[in-house]
Amino acid sequence: MAAIGIGILGSGKGSNCRAILERIRDGTLCAEARVVISDVFNAGILRHAQEFGVPNAYLTPGKFRTKLEPEAEIALVQTLRDAAVELVVLAGFMRVLKAPTLDAFSHRIINIHPSLLPKFPGLEAWKQALAAGETVSGCTVHYVDAGVDSGEIISQREVPILPNDTPETLHARIQIAERELYPKTIAQFCE
Ligand code: GAR
Repeated sequence: MAAIGIGILGSGKGSNCRAILERIRDGTLCAEARVVISDVFNAGILRHAQEFGVPNAYLTPGKFRTKLEPEAEIALVQTLRDAAVELVVLAGFMRVLKAPTLDAFSHRIINIHPSLLPKFPGLEAWKQALAAGETVSGCTVHYVDAGVDSGEIISQREVPILPNDTPETLHARIQIAERELYPKTIAQFCE
């Protein structure tokens, strides 16, 4: 089986990225992490990449809060291409990608989201699920399109919501499921 070249994008602590890098290292995920990119200068995700010896880069996002400045997005595409990335893996990347990236990696960008989509797209989905009185939540891996968490669903994992859950305990339980689901889903892309 040929290893698929992945590029991981994230804005935060990088626990999903770390789970992916661990599964690659222990041989259960046939992929090669070719680059890790963050729009946050001191994000934990970059430290995980450094620890695992994966090339990594900070991408200056520009003046917008929820998307990249056009020049930044063109630089992102170039960095991914230079690294020979075949599959773009969003792992807590908190900006919406636009045409330059969506066109360059058509049907080759995936994201993990902390809810059972199509329920609760957007920010802090676990809080939305609690506020709605749900008894089950979970996580979803989906293709990325021009919308917010709206692309075709690839895989899902359910997680119970317990009576005493706080936003923190629920998010932690969902993240345990994410760290199992994401590497397994990426494995489906290996030829
Ligand atoms: C994850 O829970 C992921 O589902 C969420 O950000 C977190 C990143 O955690 N993503 C979204 O909400 C995207 N809409 P991590 O940095 O520890 O992997």
